Amino acid sequence: MKQDDLKAAVLISGTGSNLRALINAVQNDGLKLNIVRVVSNRKAAPGIGHAKNAGIPVSVISHTDFPDRQSHDAAVAEVLEQSQAELVILAGYMRILGEDFANKYAGRMINLHPSLLPLYKGLDTYNRVLKAGDRETGSSIHFVTAGLDSGPVISQIRIPVLPDDDAASLSARLGPMEHKLVVATVELFCNREVNYDHGSVLYRGRKIGKPLQLTHDGTFI
Ligand code: GAR
Repeated sequence: MKQDDLKAAVLISGTGSNLRALINAVQNDGLKLNIVRVVSNRKAAPGIGHAKNAGIPVSVISHTDFPDRQSHDAAVAEVLEQSQAELVILAGYMRILGEDFANKYAGRMINLHPSLLPLYKGLDTYNRVLKAGDRETGSSIHFVTAGLDSGPVISQIRIPVLPDDDAASLSARLGPMEHKLVVATVELFCNREVNYDHGSVLYRGRKIGKPLQLTHDGTFI
């Protein structure tokens, strides 16, 4: 890890497999990312173990310890400020963030979501894909604006929906693809290739009309 590596905080609520993918990429593949802090809103989130094993400082800020969303958000923001994170990565952070928080981190905060946004914001995405009879699904990474799973989409990865799929098989096949997507997309930030500009995504200085698509061999098209 070098001084000029991008400083990021990762917010989690659960398994933390995307956090683990980022840690692996830093440790084994030279991703120039400095994960300065992990924040979990759940004391028992298994993902906390990935951070601890990698020696990353962890803050557990349980939403149940606060009277309202605003005060919980404020406590998280304070920790993020102290960490000096340049990028905030919501990796399975299952709390809705208030408008003030979203505005404070506009252009500096991204979220992962297991659907081809703008389709299927919210929960239970796999069953909704199956119920609709969609032939493909995927994961998206977007800049966070106020509102559930909303904000300009930066990147996506797609997988086919197979005739025998159920929610478990879709999730099992999409998971590793989403891990590729988070690592490749965060790498764009590390290389300063992606920016936010008044509600739009800039890629290498140009506004993109549709999300970057990550192929399964790891190239953005
Ligand atoms: C990921 O699939 C992510 O896309 C999803 O939670 C999972 C967390 O997995 N996020 C959302 O649904 C946000 N609305 P992980 O804890 O193993 O990284």
